[in-house]
Amino acid sequence: MEIIKAKSAGFCFGVKKAMEVVYQQLEQAGELPIYTFGPLIHNEEVVKELEAKGVKVIENQQELENLTEGIVIIRSHGVSREIYQIMEKNGLTCVDATCPFVKRIHRIVEAESARGKRIVIIGNDGHPEVEGIKGWCNLPATVLEGTEEAQNFTSDPEEKICIVSQTTFNYNKFKDLVEIFVKKGYDISVVNTICNATEERQTEAQEIAAKADAMIVIGGTHSSNTRKLYEICKNECENTHFIQTLDDLHLDLPKSVGLVGITAGASTPNNIIEEVQNYVRINF
Ligand code: F3S
Repeated sequence: MEIIKAKSAGFCFGVKKAMEVVYQQLEQAGELPIYTFGPLIHNEEVVKELEAKGVKVIENQQELENLTEGIVIIRSHGVSREIYQIMEKNGLTCVDATCPFVKRIHRIVEAESARGKRIVIIGNDGHPEVEGIKGWCNLPATVLEGTEEAQNFTSDPEEKICIVSQTTFNYNKFKDLVEIFVKKGYDISVVNTICNATEERQTEAQEIAAKADAMIVIGGTHSSNTRKLYEICKNECENTHFIQTLDDLHLDLPKSVGLVGITAGASTPNNIIEEVQNYVRINF
């Protein structure tokens, strides 16, 4: 049996950078308490490990408002303008690990909404990255992720619309939704803000899943990019498994299985991927 592990599986550039920033702070911070605004990545193991080293998680804006001392690390998802303002007002030291690809979206929506355009974000409403992006728009933004929502969208025909995407959105779905706006004849400008890491990861996963007899997708249950990877793989390969760690893997493979594919979301540490790969290699 052959195993193919996607080259793009695991930490992306933005997550790697955020991890480095936290470890740097742990070396430099001295007595100051270190916080991350929200869990650093969607991986419980990593968050627990950081907690053991003294990095606390601020769960929400209210908690941040009550904080008057310490270093607050902004994770790669980014945050709204208001969060930076609270940190400044409270005299907190902000260490910004927002991924540059997300920062770019903040700049686009800030500039375009300042020009009076309505911002449409194609992504998952409520996801921290999308909440952050919304917080850089001068007027309330519209968030949509499905065909029906795009079809039901209405706007003044005179209104100019700028469409951006959550960095981890499925590229084909994004194109389909944009197409609906085009057909409706709205005055739109579209900026494809899906990051390369995501596109590459999705394309590679799809290619592997298309030829695999079984496919394993590793990542946190809250990780939206992993959930999308799972959808893509499941579409190509019925026998697709979504697991967080090796403990969740209950593979029952028939003898005829020739190829098992493995991929992982952007916040899955390498050691977990290797563990799964070794397990499959040894047991099947
Ligand atoms: Fe950045 Fe893309 Fe990763 S936006 S955090 S490199 S998935």
